[in-house]
Amino acid sequence: MSYLFSNYQRKPYEIMSGNGCYLTDHTGKEYLDFTSGIGVCNLGYGNKKLNSALKKQAEKLWHTPNLYQNSLQEEVAEKLCQRFDYLAYFCNSGAEANEAAIKLARKKTGKTQIITFWQSFHGRTYGALSATGQKSIQAGFHPLVPDFVHLPFNELAPLQKAITKKTAAVMLEVVQGEGGVLPADKEWLQAVAKLCRENDCLLIVDEVQTGIGRCGSLFAFEDYAIYPDIVTLAKGLGNGFPVGAMLAKKELGASFLPGSHGSTFGGNKMAMVAAKTVLTELDDQNIYENVKMRSEELVTGLKKLNAPFITSIRGKGLMIGIVLQEETNVTNLMLALETAGMLTLRAGENILRLLPPLIITSTEIIHGLHIFEKAFSKLSLQE
Ligand SMILES: Cc1ncc(COP(=O)(O)O)c(C=O)c1O
Repeated sequence: MSYLFSNYQRKPYEIMSGNGCYLTDHTGKEYLDFTSGIGVCNLGYGNKKLNSALKKQAEKLWHTPNLYQNSLQEEVAEKLCQRFDYLAYFCNSGAEANEAAIKLARKKTGKTQIITFWQSFHGRTYGALSATGQKSIQAGFHPLVPDFVHLPFNELAPLQKAITKKTAAVMLEVVQGEGGVLPADKEWLQAVAKLCRENDCLLIVDEVQTGIGRCGSLFAFEDYAIYPDIVTLAKGLGNGFPVGAMLAKKELGASFLPGSHGSTFGGNKMAMVAAKTVLTELDDQNIYENVKMRSEELVTGLKKLNAPFITSIRGKGLMIGIVLQEETNVTNLMLALETAGMLTLRAGENILRLLPPLIITSTEIIHGLHIFEKAFSKLSLQE
């Protein structure tokens, strides 16, 4: 008898340990991890610098409330904000970062309408859930927060029609993650940014899944030559230690003054040590370059495999979606991969989502491609 809610569909095994890009379950079976704990453990498992920094801080002090100066927050904020001249607010998750963004946008503009996009995913709290463009995720939780409008992704005409001077913000993912690993078209994203400027509304980019190196740069928006007003982060920022952040242009700072918004745990010492070490490691290990090179190797390798059931491969950096033919069941493919020794994720309707740790090596990519080959041949025999 379990005393847990059944809100998660869990595998029958437990993961007990991890090392680099590999995980081991309670039976001793080893998996090459192509999930990173759903885009979280970007530096893999057992990173020595992270372990020792967290141990050291744990001995010293875990938490102080946001009533006092916090030099660790200042350091992390500097690392995140310096290049784009943002201010940072720290919280504990992606949904919380998006809540902060929605509240800030409404407070700053004095307007209420927020435009988001179909298939988007922004989290499960009420504001973030209302922003999420998926009816199945919202079902049973109405009434939602009012004044959220959902439009087709990558289509300009509906946005041109819907956006007005009454719009507070447009909120989007540069690559829709949960919705199906769907990248935004560059021209579309640039046109969205222009429409926001013309209508005095803010552009919020949700980088919870795409940020912290996942797509080959600190923020995925960097490749699109846009300058969002607000950026949200979480997942990879703490490599598994819960931490989220909202970054915003300096002129928005006056809208979040004392008493306006906050979080008890947000930016606590342990979370900040994790984030600081992650950001340092991204540079020290030259992770951005690694993401670009390994992504190329993985996608090229996948395309060479005999897999007639693959329709297309899309994504950015090490956020990769394999679109399957309608008649190919993604769950069956994931099971075949799991049996062969690899953990993967699904996204959207019938898409296999790959989010390997960003430290993955060429040798591990080759190992991964062997596993794919094995699983693909099993699947072909079944179908
Ligand atoms: C793009 C995006 N935004 C927000 C969230 C919500 O983050 P969290 O689960 O940390 O609240 C997620 C989680 O998958 C996400 O992918």
